Amino acid sequence: MTVDRAHDLFRRTYGIEPTVIASAPGRVNVIGEHTDYNGGDVLPIALQLRTTVALGPCAGRESRAVSEQTSGVGCFQAGASDRSGGWWDYLAGTVWAVHDERDAQCVQLAVASDVPVGAGLSSSAAVEVATATALQALNGATEPDLLQAARAAHKAETQFVGVPCGIMDQFASALCRQDQALWLACDREEAQLVPFAPLVLVFDTVVPRELRKSAYSTRRAECEEALAAIRRSAPHVTALARASAEAVELAEMSPTVRRRARHVVSETLRVGRLVQLLQERNASTAIGALLLASHASLRDDYECSTPELDWFVEQAQVAPGVHGARLTGAGWGGCAIAVGSADGLRAFAERASAEFVARFGRTPRWWMSSAADGARLH
Ligand code: GLA
Repeated sequence: MTVDRAHDLFRRTYGIEPTVIASAPGRVNVIGEHTDYNGGDVLPIALQLRTTVALGPCAGRESRAVSEQTSGVGCFQAGASDRSGGWWDYLAGTVWAVHDERDAQCVQLAVASDVPVGAGLSSSAAVEVATATALQALNGATEPDLLQAARAAHKAETQFVGVPCGIMDQFASALCRQDQALWLACDREEAQLVPFAPLVLVFDTVVPRELRKSAYSTRRAECEEALAAIRRSAPHVTALARASAEAVELAEMSPTVRRRARHVVSETLRVGRLVQLLQERNASTAIGALLLASHASLRDDYECSTPELDWFVEQAQVAPGVHGARLTGAGWGGCAIAVGSADGLRAFAERASAEFVARFGRTPRWWMSSAADGARLH
């Protein structure tokens, strides 16, 4: 349990008990990819993999942070806005964001996590949201305000750490609930829980993510270009994801930019369809078909897949008991998900892992998860 590990690490490092302990999960997005920064809908679930932060006040001006994953102590001035380039920037950034850029109280923190770093499962959102939730409790809140924690965590990620992501990851880590998916309209920051029973296989293709940062920024710029083109004849459209398919076809833009826009608009419609299936408690075969359609759109129109992710999805299509699969998260490496029966998914994961090693020369990782809880205090 990460709660016990963070608690122990805090005691061993600082020689006293922490004042508060909070945890938050990693996430996978079931559907709605590259729609969040286009003002569309997403549908993530929280994973059972969590990050815990143990926290207490300290004297002086220098805050300190330790993590079971790295040696040494990270030091930062609470509330200061400069990043150091160290792993503790996620914590320092959250302290800065929670205190609204005012001088903050000095704190000491210890972090324990089961969310793998670099797999695209939002390990950074998990540590930011857990820190924001713990800080609220340290400041006297008896019930955490999870929406505020999500906003502070997103501010830390975008304005302090400097990653230009949408709101999905931090909102998912804060607001998801067990056995539910989070249906989030990103333009309005409106969240609704939808019953989510399926088991999900998460398969990490362990492809290095060097490309991801620059490719993500390029896609964002292409989407802005598409929106500007649409707005020339339809100025009432304020978010690309809310444009109609006709508007995308009629506006003047390059073939590449049009394909990006097609993905964003069609993906937003698929989120709505999947939500409807879940609300009607529909079979996961229908869900699987939507996941496959999402993958095809990400592969062909958004061009953010890799041969490894495509291979996994192709294998899933012919695996007994598996109903569908797609890449999840930003793409350009990272994880894919599959849905199906528990036995079917497990057998598929084992077989696909062995074949993946033979084919790509890398050992993948996989997890099975149902929809878990978002952030909480302990
Ligand atoms: C990354 C970002 C999210 C979202 C996804 C793509 O995970 O952090 O905000 O844009 O990519 O859907």
